[in-house]
Amino acid sequence: MKKQILTSALLVASMSLSAQKSASIKIYADQGKEIIPKEIYGQFAEHLGSCIYGGLWVGENSDIPNTKGYRTDVLNALKDLQVPVLRWPGGCFADEYHWMDGIGPKENRPKMVNNNWGGTIEDNSFGTHEFLNLCEMLNCEPYISGNVGSGSVEELAKWVEYMTSDGDSPMANLRRKNGRDKAWKVKFLGVGNESWGCGGSMRPEYYADLYRRYSTYCRNYDGNSLYKIASGASDYDYNWTEVLMKNVGHRMNGLSLHYYTVTGWSGSKGAATKFNKDDYYWTMGKCLEIEDVVKKHIAIMDQYDPKKHIGLLVDEWGTWWDEEPGTTRGHLYQQNTLRDAFVASLTLDIFHKYTDRIKMANIAQIVNVLQSMILTKGKEMILTPTYHVFNMYKVHQGATYLPLNLISDKINVRDNRTVPFISATASKDKNGIIHISLSNVDADEYQEVSIELPGVKVNNISGQILTSNNLTDYNSFENPNVIKPQDFKDAKMTKSLLKVKLPAKSIVTLTLK
Ligand code: AHR
Repeated sequence: MKKQILTSALLVASMSLSAQKSASIKIYADQGKEIIPKEIYGQFAEHLGSCIYGGLWVGENSDIPNTKGYRTDVLNALKDLQVPVLRWPGGCFADEYHWMDGIGPKENRPKMVNNNWGGTIEDNSFGTHEFLNLCEMLNCEPYISGNVGSGSVEELAKWVEYMTSDGDSPMANLRRKNGRDKAWKVKFLGVGNESWGCGGSMRPEYYADLYRRYSTYCRNYDGNSLYKIASGASDYDYNWTEVLMKNVGHRMNGLSLHYYTVTGWSGSKGAATKFNKDDYYWTMGKCLEIEDVVKKHIAIMDQYDPKKHIGLLVDEWGTWWDEEPGTTRGHLYQQNTLRDAFVASLTLDIFHKYTDRIKMANIAQIVNVLQSMILTKGKEMILTPTYHVFNMYKVHQGATYLPLNLISDKINVRDNRTVPFISATASKDKNGIIHISLSNVDADEYQEVSIELPGVKVNNISGQILTSNNLTDYNSFENPNVIKPQDFKDAKMTKSLLKVKLPAKSIVTLTLK
């Protein structure tokens, strides 16, 4: 209690000291070099809770409207989002998943216990075909997470053959027997997940050797070229990255990293929808710390791979709160407020800065789990504030990142972190259109943002804003549109200076033509 009072005092003191409430940005529109890989906007779907069953997949006989077994409402919402890549089947589930149990006639597929996630019985009705067909429907790249923890080298090798071989090979013929003639294209292959934890509790040296062994037998068939991803570190485990870079090096195309905005791994993580201003600013600080974490992992990678051939893939990130009361334990179903929307926008702003090394990111997870895009209940579906951020930001996918300088007032928050009130990112698309995304995390006050754009001629400005009356607001099944993007008009250009009045707790994306 005493600590809480102290930190509140610190917060208030710092806010009143920094009462300027303005920020300035200079965008170098002619100096963009890096393309923002669309895969930064990747998603993650695990056999966990109602992500797959009920969320993405209901089966063809369901009374929930579906397209070949996939929920039509969810499918349409995801198509609109332009999901570039989808990681599956885990997470922790991946290292207990035996893919052969998920092919062939559904009535013959064996059941298993989902030991990681509530002991739920998994009937394997959603397997390789269902996943890869979904990716085709969404027009996104599949990212298969292979089983190293409890699976064999042979099993993983055969899975790759099953999915990607077009020849007269035993696994290709088995696939044909199961109704799919043409091989799928599968680029991204994860060789294990969290191998330091749920994926086998390994030491990095041991995992590095296993990676070398497993990946050797994952072949490129018939024009398919695998991008092999080693299971990487969690958060601050720089030693894991060091050992992998040293002992695996260029045998991997990518190395993963997991970073959650979470209060801790034991005890309560806090309610998704009940928090105070201290908690909110703490969350912003913890979220922003990912920048320091990626910089440190990148610095290690740079020592071993100065030409940046190996990608850093943040293939799990997002907020992790207590499960919603009344939901099944171990299913990680959580609500999503404006606070979560900020975690999305600030994190994407950071990823944009490091795309010379960060080649993919997958928010956890796509439907009904953790910081999801979509929540479903029976036949109903809602889009979360995080969905709306991804939708407002999709214009940055594949665009050229524009370097910028940002000066913003800051606030000191709990755990000795500092949070700038304004976050920003900008890109230029292939038609020369500039998009600027701005977040004002200030819970109370609007900010005047002056944006210099030397050399840029603008004829037309349009924008969208995401905000709400309260940081704790969220979309519910009763009120699904509490938070949704609205038109934004408070941006004026005079010569090459753009003035934007950003309301408190708001996220804006501007389009400059
Ligand atoms: O996303 C939920 C879980 O978090 C994943 O299964 C695991 O990889 C991580 O610990």
